[in-house]
Amino acid sequence: MNLTVNGVTHEIESWPLTTLLDVLREELEITSPKAGCEQGGCGACTVLVDGTPQRACLTAVAAIDGASITTAEGLGTPDDLSPLQQAFTHHYAAQCGFCTSGMMMAAHAYLDGGGTDDRHAIQEALAGHVCRCTGYVKIIAAVAAAARGDSFDLTTTAPSAGMVNVGGVK
Ligand code: FES
Ligand code: FES
Repeated sequence: MNLTVNGVTHEIESWPLTTLLDVLREELEITSPKAGCEQGGCGACTVLVDGTPQRACLTAVAAIDGASITTAEGLGTPDDLSPLQQAFTHHYAAQCGFCTSGMMMAAHAYLDGGGTDDRHAIQEALAGHVCRCTGYVKIIAAVAAAARGDSFDLTTTAPSAGMVNVGGVK
């Protein structure tokens, strides 16, 4: 089996029924997808599989052999954040960061599909993503800002190191 993750193709050595989440985190050491409920209910493990948000905890790797996977690490880097990551930083949309990667992948797909800054549409796009820190207002504000194409001066936002690492927390 092989997977292309964030543009790099990997031969996968895990057993075929290993979850995509475990392959990413344990075999490939890509740790932005988080193991929350591991039952499909929280969204923390969400990645893009061929561009579509998918729960990595419910996906057997054999079922997506040859697929292209995008994680938060594939959106931008701490030195070169994507517009969505900049928006999350500017709006302080990450607290502990545990849900952030999954939220961000769902939001990325929403924006890629032409999503607007409509609050209800964003809520619908992020439905099923649970933030235990309950920071939903700021998350929706960040996605709306990215949808509008707002630009941000992150030097005035003064993000902490953790905030700069949006979506890439261990
Ligand atoms: S860890 Fe996959 S949905 Fe919660
Ligand atoms: S920021 Fe902590 S769970 Fe969402």
